[in-house]
Amino acid sequence: MTVFVFGADGYIGWPLSVRLARELDEEVIGVDNLVTRKLVEEVGGTTALPIGLPEQRVQAFRKEYAKNNLKIIEGDLTDGDFVDDLVSKYRPETVYHLAQQRSAPYSMIDRQHAAYTEVNNVLTNLNLLFALKNHSPKAHVVKMGTMGEYGTPTYNIEEGWMNVKHGGKSHRIMVPRDPGSWYHVSKVFDTYNLIFANKVWNIRATDVQQGVVYGSRTEDLVNGALNTRLDFDGVWGTVMNKYFAQIIAFNKMLIYGTGLMKRGFLSLQDSIDCLFMLGQKPADEGEYRVVNQMEEIHSTMELAKKAERIARKYGFNPEYETVEDPRVEKQRHNYSVSHRVLRRLGFRPRYKMNHVLEQIMQDMLNNAETIRTHAGAIRPAVYWNRAENKIGREYLRTINENAIRSSKSYII
Ligand SMILES: NC(=O)c1ccc[n+]([C@@H]2O[C@H](COP(=O)([O-])OP(=O)(O)OC[C@H]3O[C@@H](n4cnc5c(N)ncnc54)[C@H](O)[C@@H]3O)[C@@H](O)[C@H]2O)c1
Repeated sequence: MTVFVFGADGYIGWPLSVRLARELDEEVIGVDNLVTRKLVEEVGGTTALPIGLPEQRVQAFRKEYAKNNLKIIEGDLTDGDFVDDLVSKYRPETVYHLAQQRSAPYSMIDRQHAAYTEVNNVLTNLNLLFALKNHSPKAHVVKMGTMGEYGTPTYNIEEGWMNVKHGGKSHRIMVPRDPGSWYHVSKVFDTYNLIFANKVWNIRATDVQQGVVYGSRTEDLVNGALNTRLDFDGVWGTVMNKYFAQIIAFNKMLIYGTGLMKRGFLSLQDSIDCLFMLGQKPADEGEYRVVNQMEEIHSTMELAKKAERIARKYGFNPEYETVEDPRVEKQRHNYSVSHRVLRRLGFRPRYKMNHVLEQIMQDMLNNAETIRTHAGAIRPAVYWNRAENKIGREYLRTINENAIRSSKSYII
């Protein structure tokens, strides 16, 4: 039996691959074209925690866990023939699909970056669905969506579906999507493609809508050779990573707009625990299952206060600098989310944010030199409503020929 992890070189994909290979006897095959490494460099960023090349990571796994059931294949999943060959050769039982361009700001740089994001994300998913239909129709797809698909509506966000009354009748409809970037739009496309594949081909799927994931480690990443990536720049870093990097580089935190924008958060360990469990408790044959996962809701200002508290322990005294919000988003809003399915399946979160944040700060401080030498990339540089953002253009045009190979005709 084989388990695929598409996106195995990524922030979540790597610790997931390690967890699966450590705990299962099945062969775990990661697939990745290493594009996140290149796209982060394109905007002047890098991972705060040093990471090895895929073969070094796999070696480190073998050495630590004395197991030989993990490998990583390099390849671009927008190449339909490649995906078809993979699935036909290995006939996987489970496919975790995390291989996507996942930065909202990156997708908002300009037309080329929006097109790259949408083509990359939609194609990787579509190629997988067709390959499964052809060669492994009973396999279970665990597809990473995002809570960002739903936006920040005034109503409670149910898990995928909701009951409404319209025209005097009750209906069960999909929770409306309100994406906040071209990246989020691509994830909404994926959701519809997945639902459609389920409807016409009975593809068995779990669509996992996770909130923002924070954390620099999981219990399996027990030494530096097993590190996962940790982004902190203005395009790729998530909010807590950016605050800590800003503190280390400038002794301040940049508060976007009112600082009252709320999101749902979960730890990297809980993300991995959940994904692992979903593979072990698959959707039924022919079922399309939706899971919302987030454990805490905070505004960006509340998070800044948490970051400040921790930074003070390490001798920093950070200022708060209010800057224009680069995103077009509601500045004041309610936010509430249903997340019962995981509980029903027996999942229990293990980490609270306060327990994990200090570890992130320590990991960043241990790599403070890396952060300081990339300080130029920490401030926001991509504005949703600017006609042109002067960042990163040369890269897609010239350096990253590979990544846009399959989508070139859409972009140029
Ligand atoms: N990080 C978060 O907070 C978060 C939250 C919710 C959902 N997600 C979703 O989880 C998934 C993984 O996110 P992540 O943070 O680990 O991102 P990541 O960028 O670190 O990992 C994605 C991996 O996919 C690979 N990839 C991208 N396009 C590919 C292609 N065409 N062919 C082969 N490999 C390709 C990248 O090289 C990268 O290693 C994404 O789908 C993302 O939308 C992430």
